[in-house]
Amino acid sequence: MMQRRWGSTKPQLETALVGDHRCRNVAAVTSTVPEAIPAGAMRSINQPRVAIDDELALRPWATADRPAVIQAFSDPDIVHWHSRRITTLTEADEWVEAQRDAWAGERSASFAIVDVATESVLGRAALHTQLEYGTAEIAYWVLPGARRRNVAARAGRAITAWGHGFGFHRIELEHSVFNEPSCRVAQRLGYASEGIKRSSVRHADGPHDMHLHSHLVSDEML
Ligand SMILES: CC(C)(COP(=O)(O)OP(=O)(O)OC[C@H]1O[C@@H](n2cnc3c(N)ncnc32)[C@H](O)[C@@H]1OP(=O)(O)O)[C@@H](O)C(=O)NCCC(=O)NCCS
Repeated sequence: MMQRRWGSTKPQLETALVGDHRCRNVAAVTSTVPEAIPAGAMRSINQPRVAIDDELALRPWATADRPAVIQAFSDPDIVHWHSRRITTLTEADEWVEAQRDAWAGERSASFAIVDVATESVLGRAALHTQLEYGTAEIAYWVLPGARRRNVAARAGRAITAWGHGFGFHRIELEHSVFNEPSCRVAQRLGYASEGIKRSSVRHADGPHDMHLHSHLVSDEML
């Protein structure tokens, strides 16, 4: 019988850890795959302002944005698809702080989409980041009064280009199969359809099938 290196339980553990490409930071198991983007790449710089076009820009969230955050998370569509309701300045403050902390914690690059003439918030575009793997997931919403003016598409294009430029080779986009406007945004941006993840996200009305799209750095930007 073959000699087991670690006794009766460790070999199973070793197999499980080594077999899972996401379990890199485990003592005694050294990954052969280098980090795609080094840790510290985000937190070592200030979150930038990103120009979109003559009318729009992406900028970090500010305390003054709290009323817009309350307006957003009082809208039935945003509440439904983002599973959060915000009704007080204190809650809005916490949300804004969480966006800033997420940059410092290298978990997310969350931007307000603003009208450059007034600096007022029209929406949100974010990349939820995994530096180690060089991947991210895009998220967005647009305030009801700013919809159907290509705000999501223009902001989505800008944050996708910014993300690829930062080093994320793959950016995913997921939406419920019932969220047709979001699917149109994905198509407008040239995110390729990859399939349906069955019952993968729970909303207030139960689990939803999620349509997965992705954009690779080598893909054309529409
Ligand atoms: C989805 C959402 C972000 C779209 O924002 P938007 O700024 O209005 O979208 P755009 O104007 O950039 O439109 C992009 C494309 O989607 C289409 N579209 C947008 N809203 C649509 C709607 N309600 N019905 C059908 N198509 C729609 C546009 O016609 C456009 O396609 P086209 O260029 O072929 O004409 C916005 O409706 C929203 O915030 N919804 C609630 C939150 C949400 O669903 N977030 C996404 C969760 S995955």
